[in-house]
Amino acid sequence: MKPINKTVESFKESIFATISRLAHSKNAVNLGQGFPDFDGPEWIRTIARESFEGKNQYAPSMGVKELRESISNYYRDFYELEYDLNEQITVTNGATEAIFCSALALINPGDEVIVLEPFYDSYIAAIELAGGIPVPVTLYAPEFKFKMDELQNAFSSKTKLVFLNSPHNPTGKVFSQEELSSLCDLVIKHDAYILSDEVYEFLTFKNSKHLPVASLSNMKERTITISSAGKTYGLTGWKIGWICSSSEISHAIRMVHQFNTFSVCTPLQYTVAKALKEIKEYVPSFKEQYSNLRSQLVDGLENLGYNPIPPSGTYFTLIPTPEGKTDIEYCKSLIEQKSVATIPLSPFYLNSKEGEGYVRFCFAKKKETLEKALKNLS
Ligand SMILES: Cc1ncc(COP(=O)(O)O)c(C=O)c1O
Repeated sequence: MKPINKTVESFKESIFATISRLAHSKNAVNLGQGFPDFDGPEWIRTIARESFEGKNQYAPSMGVKELRESISNYYRDFYELEYDLNEQITVTNGATEAIFCSALALINPGDEVIVLEPFYDSYIAAIELAGGIPVPVTLYAPEFKFKMDELQNAFSSKTKLVFLNSPHNPTGKVFSQEELSSLCDLVIKHDAYILSDEVYEFLTFKNSKHLPVASLSNMKERTITISSAGKTYGLTGWKIGWICSSSEISHAIRMVHQFNTFSVCTPLQYTVAKALKEIKEYVPSFKEQYSNLRSQLVDGLENLGYNPIPPSGTYFTLIPTPEGKTDIEYCKSLIEQKSVATIPLSPFYLNSKEGEGYVRFCFAKKKETLEKALKNLS
């Protein structure tokens, strides 16, 4: 038989599947999986039930007008960013499809794409399937900053795109204005684009503030902003995501999207359109809920001597691995000896060994789940 696609052949099972299987077999509390173990708000699920009446056929490929309108309004209200709903906003099957469509729309075979490692695991697959070459730049613990000389050296005449994620999974970092500006200066200098994955945009804590890359000077035309309702409403299974970009890039992305999924679940698009109308009122309670869960886990781990790195954003926190153990060994021992599942960091790096020094906990879990995990860890 002839072989399958060479790029696909190199892909391995995701670490999440491996850990979840192990966690399940040992009946461990799963703080590895990066999604809530509770439902999103009842008021949104009520809207969803109503939306299933009469709205069950294909939506327009770019997304229903009501949702594009709500997206356009919230970018204006929160960030003073103007996106034309007819030309510059596309609804996708979660941020994951948005990432794939953007990569396929922009990358030509041989183009180089800078990725800050650790990275969200779909980035490399999307880049490679589009024929691009990932060029990793390491973020160094404990603040997960890039080194300016390493970033500068990563750029070349072949650099097409930079993948950025802030607030950042898995580290919980929120990039500062200075960091973003120095990155953007290089992007402009090399006439490249930024894919800015902002799915955790509303999950920032204490004084941290999310800054959309598109709002930085001269960056709007070069930025493909991606977000999704999954994290913001705690409804990750709905997979309603979106892309905001210039009309030209947006057109290219829509050409990929039409032959990929074509369109996205119609009733849930109408639901998210309504939910986004309430976003200003909703965000404070959402932040408070996750801020409490963050304190519960971070303080609990601190009290037990695990030395967590308190995150500025997202719903993740890292702890260092003990001397002499890799992240994967530590992760396995936490499952086997403490009945708690975490995610090792090394699978989210291409080059650096930094990841061997940390494992990731997710605190998007019920209070009782976190209590049980902390009890097991004591
Ligand atoms: C950084 C990041 N980007 C994208 C996604 C995927 O989002 P979605 O579920 O909307 O496809 C995730 C999900 O965990 C994520 O952490």
